[in-house]
Amino acid sequence: MNENPASPVVTPVTRRNFLKSTSTAVAGGALLGALSAERFALGASPGDTLKIALIGCGGRGSGAANQALSTQGGTKLIAMADVFKDQLEGSLRNLKEKHTEKVEVPQENKFIGFDAYKQAIALADVVILATPPGFRPMMFEEAVRQGKHIFMEKPVAVDGPGIRRVLEAAAESKRKGLKVGVGLQRHHQTGYLETLKRLHDGEIGDIVAMRAYWNGSTPWVKPRKSLEQKFGRPLTEMEYQMQNWYYFTWICGDHIVEQHIHNLDVINWVKNGHPVRCHGMGGCEVRKGQDYGEIFDHHAVEYEYADGSRLGSQCRHILNCWNDVSEHVVGTKGSCDVSRHMILGPNAWRFRADKANPPKDPYQQEHDDLFDAIRNDKPYNEAEYGAHSSLTAIMGRMATYSGKIVEWDAALNSTLETMPKNLAWDAPTLVNPGADGMYPRAVPGKTASL
Ligand SMILES: NC(=O)c1ccc[n+]([C@@H]2O[C@H](COP(=O)([O-])OP(=O)(O)OC[C@H]3O[C@@H](n4cnc5c(N)ncnc54)[C@H](O)[C@@H]3O)[C@@H](O)[C@H]2O)c1
Repeated sequence: MNENPASPVVTPVTRRNFLKSTSTAVAGGALLGALSAERFALGASPGDTLKIALIGCGGRGSGAANQALSTQGGTKLIAMADVFKDQLEGSLRNLKEKHTEKVEVPQENKFIGFDAYKQAIALADVVILATPPGFRPMMFEEAVRQGKHIFMEKPVAVDGPGIRRVLEAAAESKRKGLKVGVGLQRHHQTGYLETLKRLHDGEIGDIVAMRAYWNGSTPWVKPRKSLEQKFGRPLTEMEYQMQNWYYFTWICGDHIVEQHIHNLDVINWVKNGHPVRCHGMGGCEVRKGQDYGEIFDHHAVEYEYADGSRLGSQCRHILNCWNDVSEHVVGTKGSCDVSRHMILGPNAWRFRADKANPPKDPYQQEHDDLFDAIRNDKPYNEAEYGAHSSLTAIMGRMATYSGKIVEWDAALNSTLETMPKNLAWDAPTLVNPGADGMYPRAVPGKTASL
């Protein structure tokens, strides 16, 4: 889905339409030689086999590769990249089992290390970027530079500089006519699409108040001791943080960014825009200890949109509390439980799935839509709203870490880079444990927001 259909989309030069527009095959052949390899990669006829590279071979990357290989038409997984070999091999085994004919990753197309993504991208027509989000900006930039179609998971960055890189690369991807999908799959979920259509048609009037929650259970943790047992040696700090990435802001963004983005994104979609400022509070109340890095276990943020309407947002990773993952909006003529696809008021309505033809799993649907756009050269670029939703979450984290009001423009123009300059297993990390093994956490009122 293109969030901004009015924006100009350059029709890419494809092998097919290029040949159509030249007078003879001979002239076409001669001129084709002059076209760069990058421009060739753009073209895909409905009958072509699209070559896929998976970068970040964990849970979601493997899922996304499965979905890409399950789309209509020829697809082949031909390259994989990861920083950890066992992750790549495990994912390859599973994918091979499921798609025997469509998975052909020879030894020379398996790439390991921090630079591995560049080589994998070079071999593919379509790349799946599914590492933790801290690495997304540099990988998205590279995939755009190499002229590839892209599916990238959310969030698309974890800080202001990362968002600026993504927005610049997004503009370039539009100029190049690349198709870009972002893993905010609610945009491809029938119940949400039907609900949003009604909200945008004014069924509950002007939307004046919003709520969004991701209050849920706690994610996995990889204690240092168990990692050292697995590796049979002490880990460098970089290795430890990369293994236990969820708990480090420079890799994960904190759970408000990594997870709650889904709900914040829905509200931005409802409002057709993004907040202008926010303030909030948060901390780490329960999930404390040496293995829980630097992130908070709860955030509560109030966002203000350009029309003055407010969004109350909460996300929490604490067990045995009230859990809810949802989005709600109140309008001048009714209200809506967006996540349960239900309108209350004079235009009361509830989405009911067609039992004879049930909607597809949105994770599959988003790949069906992307690959259809690639094969049939339809406008398709989700990078910009993916970046705006990511920044919405990032500014929320800036507000809870600092205790200050954070303005959209200030968050976007922030110079606070969270990523270490040098990515290598023995390179220094910016955040390190103290003598007691505990990592420093943000302290509202003391921590700088930007
Ligand atoms: N859309 C959704 O509903 C959804 C669901 C789950 C995860 N996700 C997103 O998918 C991404 C991955 O999450 P996951 O659950 O699969 O994590 P994961 O830990 O299972 O997988 C991440 C993989 O990336 C690899 N990796 C890390 N840094 C790398 C680098 N610099 N270069 C190459 N490989 C690298 C890791 O070794 C690992 O194999 C995250 O951004 C997450 O937010 C989205």
